[in-house]
Amino acid sequence: MRTPMRNPMRALLGFIVLAATLSVSAEESGLRLEPAPAHRLDMESLQRGARNFANYCLNCHSAQYMRYNRLMDLGISEQEIHDNLMFATDKLGSTMTAAMPKADAAAWFGTAPPDLSVEARIRGKDWLYSYLLAFYRDEKTPTGWNNLVFNNVSMPHVLWERSGVQRLVETEYEDEEKAEAAVIAAKGLALAERINDHKYVVKTLTQDGPGTMPPVEYKAFIADLVNYLDYIGEPVRNERINIGIGVLIYLGVLMVFAYALKRAYWKDVH
Ligand code: HEC
Repeated sequence: MRTPMRNPMRALLGFIVLAATLSVSAEESGLRLEPAPAHRLDMESLQRGARNFANYCLNCHSAQYMRYNRLMDLGISEQEIHDNLMFATDKLGSTMTAAMPKADAAAWFGTAPPDLSVEARIRGKDWLYSYLLAFYRDEKTPTGWNNLVFNNVSMPHVLWERSGVQRLVETEYEDEEKAEAAVIAAKGLALAERINDHKYVVKTLTQDGPGTMPPVEYKAFIADLVNYLDYIGEPVRNERINIGIGVLIYLGVLMVFAYALKRAYWKDVH
């Protein structure tokens, strides 16, 4: 029997076509994300993000490549890490493990909460920011919550007391262009989906009950959290940025001397 692999050219062609289709379908998903206002050199934001993560996410999610003592790189003191950010049984040198055993979590939620150490590198900052802002009330799901960015997610909306309650708004359009225009006009999170040849639906969210934080403050809270998740995905990048700046200054100084030397050498020739 002929297998497709017998013919490497054909296999390669098949792969290219597949990759092209996949990338097109990703583009056509019609989802508009909200860009994350996260600045990884902003130490105060990273400190707040670390606290938010330890207080609200570490119950279920681990960050197995992140050690508690690395939080000192962010200017958080050893005492504060002990008092506020660690579980009583953890040591300063241990990694950030979840409070809940993975098997229990899988049984309760249907899916085990994934480790978040490199989540920002997998999904991207904007996706994370949008995801955390995209929870809405949905009586049809087991948790009572759903998510515009991650349909039927099994994670409950753990921050709902702060954010308040959002509801889904669905508007139908007869043609694709109108639906696309509506997504752009929404100026925030929006998702366009095709129902059939003549029907498109645009989904957006609306606030339906206040939380303990005003929306602007809540977004800043999430931005800090995303900033921290982005940081732990690659902590040494901050060091690299600082080294880079140092190297540029060094080269600048060197340039001045090199130029002076060049002038001295060529003085007699001119
Ligand atoms: C009560 C447990 C619980 C808490 C607390 C929790 N999560 Fe989750 N989270 C889950 C579960 C379960 C999933 C898996 C969802 C799925 O795949 O359907 C998940 C999924 C995620 C995902 C998507 C992962 C992916 O790419 O598939 C992200 C991102 C995430 N959580 C971030 C957070 C952040 C940030 C916090 C803290 C604000 C947090 N979670 C708090 C249970 C939790």
